[in-house]
Amino acid sequence: MTILVTGGAGFIGSNFALEWVAHSDEPIVNLDKLTYAGNLQNLASIADNPQHVFVQGDFGDTALVNHLLATHQPRAILNFAAESHVDRSISGPGDFIHTNIVGTFNLLECTRAYWGGLKADTGGDAKAAFRFLHVSTDEVYGSLSKTDPAFTENNKYEPNSPYSASKAASDHLVRAYHHTYGLPVLTTNCSNNYGPFHFPEKLIPLMIVNAQAGKPLPVYGDGQQIRDWLYVKDHCSAIRRVLEAGTVGEVYNVGGWNEKPNLDIVHTVCALLDELKPRTDGKPYHEQITYVTDRPGHDRRYAIDARKIESQLGWKPAETFESGIRKTVQWYLDNPDWVANVQSGSYKDWVAQQYGAKA
Ligand code: NAD
Ligand code: TYD
Repeated sequence: MTILVTGGAGFIGSNFALEWVAHSDEPIVNLDKLTYAGNLQNLASIADNPQHVFVQGDFGDTALVNHLLATHQPRAILNFAAESHVDRSISGPGDFIHTNIVGTFNLLECTRAYWGGLKADTGGDAKAAFRFLHVSTDEVYGSLSKTDPAFTENNKYEPNSPYSASKAASDHLVRAYHHTYGLPVLTTNCSNNYGPFHFPEKLIPLMIVNAQAGKPLPVYGDGQQIRDWLYVKDHCSAIRRVLEAGTVGEVYNVGGWNEKPNLDIVHTVCALLDELKPRTDGKPYHEQITYVTDRPGHDRRYAIDARKIESQLGWKPAETFESGIRKTVQWYLDNPDWVANVQSGSYKDWVAQQYGAKA
């Protein structure tokens, strides 16, 4: 038995790979193109673990994906690979269309052929047991007003950014492959994640890193936009649970009931830094907060109703927001080399040095 993940050197995928190795003996094949967001340094602790096989490559490469499926015969494919940063999707949507839509389409096509060839009578019904799990976002549902109820799995899709539109398209393709071809799919739509290995151009890591560097903490618009935050390892446990027990064809919203305005998040990060690594001049970090021009088309509020995954699959997050954010700030304080490498781009050199031909 083996699972194949795509995008497993990114923020969530690398946390998933580390957690998988910690929770299971089953091999994991990790296909990642290593774009700016992919970082093998995240996987350093399992680099020599034979349970984890890393392959640098594109999930849009038909020959490569077919080769990996034929060689490793996975019982499940988990699709994390994506272009994921909303701001980048506004300045350059092309990569998002290519990766999130066309890439996922290619992965589905390869999977359909592979799954179609699985024999129903081998390995205790490998064909029926096979799963394609697609990792998606709550942003496909669009924006809520302050008083709207949180997103359930029945909300209609109203994506507003090129990122969320491209993820919505990929979700629709996954759904269509189930309805049209019977492919055994599962989809998860999760709220904003935070935690270790988060690329420092997203809100929480950017604030931690900029604060320490004495730089401005840029808050878009009035800072009253609301996001619903989940510690990344809790997202990973939800994905493992959906893979294990989810009903084929179903969608599961994943979230931890942690709605917070952006400004509150920034103040929380500042207060933790004041406690854990005070400024040398004794002043509070929140003095670095700077209001900047709002993001075009900025969604006002996201909120996840997680009752389905909680009641049907018995999943619950392990961290509160308070415990998770403290761990996260501490992780960034403990890993200045990771931050420096990611910021300088020199982690590509580091990877070449550490991994040589393996990368
Ligand atoms: P990320 O940008 O940190 O990582 C994406 C990974 O995909 C990178 O390692 C990158 O190298 C890889 N990749 C990109 N194009 C590829 C290609 N063509 N072939 C193979 N690999 C490729 O993103 P993330 O934050 O880890 O998000 C992972 C998934 O979870 C995405 O699908 C995203 O939409 C979804 N998601 C993210 C969040 C969040 O808060 N970050 C929340 C909900 C859902
Ligand atoms: P981000 O981390 O980019 O995630 P997403 O856009 O997928 O929700 O942004 C989270 C929120 O923080 C979002 O409302 C935009 C806001 N934001 C800022 O105010 N300043 C920043 O520098 C960044 C990166 C984001």
